[in-house]
Amino acid sequence: MLIARRLRQLEVFSEVLGPKDAKLNEPGAFQGLVLSGGPGSATCADAPQLDPQLVDGSVPVLAICYGMQAMTKVLGGQVQPCADRRSYGQSLARLTNGSALFDAESHSESLPVWMSHGDQVSKLPDGFTLLAEGDSTPVMAMANEAKKLYGLQFHPEVTHTKGGIDMLRRFAFDICGCATSWTMPSYEQRAAAQIRAQVGDEKVLLALSGGVDSAVAAALLESAIPGQLVCVLVDNGLMRAQEVEQTRQTFAHLGDRLICVDAATEFIDALAGLIDPEQKRKAIGHTFIRVLEREAKQSGEVQWLAQGTIYPDVIESAGSPGGLASSIKSHHNVGGLPEKLNIKIIEPLRLLFKDEVRVLGATLGVNQEVLGRHPFPGPGLAVRILGEVTRERLEIARAADAIFIEELKSRGWYDKVAQAFVVLLPVSAVGVQGDNRTYENVLALRAVCTADFMTADWARIPDDLLANCSARITNEIKQINRVVYDVTSKPPATIEWE
Ligand code: XMP
Repeated sequence: MLIARRLRQLEVFSEVLGPKDAKLNEPGAFQGLVLSGGPGSATCADAPQLDPQLVDGSVPVLAICYGMQAMTKVLGGQVQPCADRRSYGQSLARLTNGSALFDAESHSESLPVWMSHGDQVSKLPDGFTLLAEGDSTPVMAMANEAKKLYGLQFHPEVTHTKGGIDMLRRFAFDICGCATSWTMPSYEQRAAAQIRAQVGDEKVLLALSGGVDSAVAAALLESAIPGQLVCVLVDNGLMRAQEVEQTRQTFAHLGDRLICVDAATEFIDALAGLIDPEQKRKAIGHTFIRVLEREAKQSGEVQWLAQGTIYPDVIESAGSPGGLASSIKSHHNVGGLPEKLNIKIIEPLRLLFKDEVRVLGATLGVNQEVLGRHPFPGPGLAVRILGEVTRERLEIARAADAIFIEELKSRGWYDKVAQAFVVLLPVSAVGVQGDNRTYENVLALRAVCTADFMTADWARIPDDLLANCSARITNEIKQINRVVYDVTSKPPATIEWE
């Protein structure tokens, strides 16, 4: 997924395809192929097999890590396990021969590169030249320049590989001859034309969640098919402070095509007595479908349901390697609705990564405050209040979250972390507040840095900022007498606590 993002940052359109994707057999469907790394071992009998036609030279190939090993085997070279079992982390690649993939000046230099592999190429396939070697990895890079087939044992897509992005750039432009065609203004034009062709003059319903994806999907649809979009903003009582109001203001221009539904009581009632995280999620999902179904019926003839599905959701649900089946996104909450309403689905952001959604949003004039917001799970504060969700606990969590976020923003840390929030724990602790012994709630602060939300590191927020948050929260919210900071990365933890 990271390789595709990097290529798109170069304004080259790239898609992640599975080994059985029909597009791989469509003549002219792509200008170049990148075979990515993967968790398998090319030396195992059950290793994923590479179709030899893909590396027959009819299209340029950049094969990375496992991809290079698979290509080597198919073309008659040899792969064997590394002597020291696994090579992981930073290493040096000594360039031995010039190549269209490397900068002419780097020739005979040693490049810092990042690798993670348990197998290595021990004999080049016929027609290949060694491009780079390392101390413990004899073949760091190889090529058959005539056929435009390239192999890298290291990962050019990670920032730890010096000049890695330049290798991808040379592959895309010099070797494959791609043009820069992937920009958000040009995407907007193409997507709008496609939406008009798909929807015609029919009406589209979209559930606004307050998050970035649904906001940008709404803006794109409204600009493509003005007057045909109906937005439903369901206040489930589980949102962050000011979230409903801000979204309402952002889409006020829709007039009576913005339907705001106060369904907080319905959601909180559905959550009464529930403690198990999955049961809580299910109760919220079912209530959401019920509310949306009711509103859809009331808003007259609606033929389409728009969803803010984005590309990582598509890749993850396709069960690709590295995909996390557990990251269930909010749009899954409307599962079941299309059948009930006999309605068609439109997903205008289906091809976009999150950073592209934000750029498209800016192109469409969506408020920066909305675009810069950290992601927020569909089930909202309900999965950040461990144990039973009640009105009182929602108020506590919402007030504490607002203080944490306000402090992060005032110190310039909000945009430095990918996600920050509070978690109200289902335990009480002893404290002294004023002159009194108290027995009150414990609150956890969580902030993470991540590019893709599949793995994440806990954010190293300065001590004095944490101290301020703790002091303010315990002073301003009497039901909290203890604040802790979560210092766990993902894995082993997840970002959310439930
Ligand atoms: P985890 O907790 O799985 O979260 O590490 C990864 C990312 O997904 C978000 N998340 C959700 N988003 N509906 C959503 O829309 C959900 O049910 C859901 N659960 C987790 C989480 O906030 C993080 O950004």
